Amino acid sequence: MRIIYCDSVIDDKIIEPDYHEEKDAAINAGFGFSLFSFEQLIDGNIVKSLRNVPPADEVESAIYRGWMMTPSEYQSFYDELLNKNIKLINSPEEYKHCHYLPESYSIIESLTPKSYWFNKLDDQAIVKLKEQFGNQPIIVKDFVKSEKHHWQEACFIPDASNKDCVQAVVERFLDLRGDALNEGLVFRKFEELEFLTTHSQSGMPLTKEFRMYFANGKLVQTFDYWTRAIMATWFQTLRCLMK
Ligand SMILES: Nc1ncnc2c1ncn2[C@@H]1O[C@H](COP(=O)(O)OP(=O)(O)OP(=O)(O)O)[C@@H](O)[C@H]1O
Ligand SMILES: [Mg+2]
Repeated sequence: MRIIYCDSVIDDKIIEPDYHEEKDAAINAGFGFSLFSFEQLIDGNIVKSLRNVPPADEVESAIYRGWMMTPSEYQSFYDELLNKNIKLINSPEEYKHCHYLPESYSIIESLTPKSYWFNKLDDQAIVKLKEQFGNQPIIVKDFVKSEKHHWQEACFIPDASNKDCVQAVVERFLDLRGDALNEGLVFRKFEELEFLTTHSQSGMPLTKEFRMYFANGKLVQTFDYWTRAIMATWFQTLRCLMK
C-alpha cells in the first residue's frame, strides 16, 4: 500500500516540504509512497500530473495525503491512478460525500450544529436565517471551508436576524474566498465551545476541539485540533487497521 503525496512546486522529484517529516513516518510504518504534481492536476493535465507515479503490477491500494481537490479533480485523479492499477481507498463518491457538508449533513444532523445552505444570499435566505436562528449567533462557510482567520469580519455573525450584519460578513467572506468558493454558502448555529486562547496571528478565538481519523470504520487517532499532529503513531496504527 502506498501514500500519494504532492511534489514540491519547484522540483517534481522532491516531496512538498510540509509533508517531508510525515512521509518518513509513513515509510517507517511500512508504507510506500509516490509523488504527483498537484499544479498539473488542477491545470487539467492529468497524465503529466501523474507521470512520476510508477504503475503497480497488481491492484494496489493507496491513500491520498495532500491539498484539497474539487470532486471533479478527485475523479480524474482517481481514474488515472486506477489506469496504473492503483486504487485510492476513497472512491470519488465517498470523497464528495465527506468533502461537502450538505452531502453528509442528513447523516450527522443530530450530532452537528444546525445548518442551512444556499446558492447565494438572496431575500429568501435572509428570511430563512431569521426564522431558523432568530437573534442567535451563527457562522458562515462554504460547502468545505471557512475564513476562520478573518473571524470577526468574514466568519462570525453575532445576530442571525441582523440583515446588515449578515450581508456585510457574507460579502467579505465571498471577497476572500474569490474563485476558491466551494459551491455555496453554509450557515451554522454558533456553539459556545471551551475557550483556550486567541490565535497569535489572526486573533481568532481558539477553542477546545479535536480532529479524529477513521479507517475501515475504526478510530485511528484523535489529535488536538490546534496543535501539530504526531504522525509516527498515526501511521503505525493505520498500518495495523489496513492489514
Ligand atoms: N458552529 C460552530 N460553532 C462554534 N465554532 C465554530 C462553528 N463552526 C466553526 N467554528 C469555529 O471555526 C473554526 C473553523 O470552522 P471549520 O473547521 O468548520 O472550517 P475550516 O477549518 O475552514 O474547514 P475544515 O476544518 O473543514 O478544513 C472551527 O475550528 C471552530 O473553531
Ligand atoms: Mg477546520
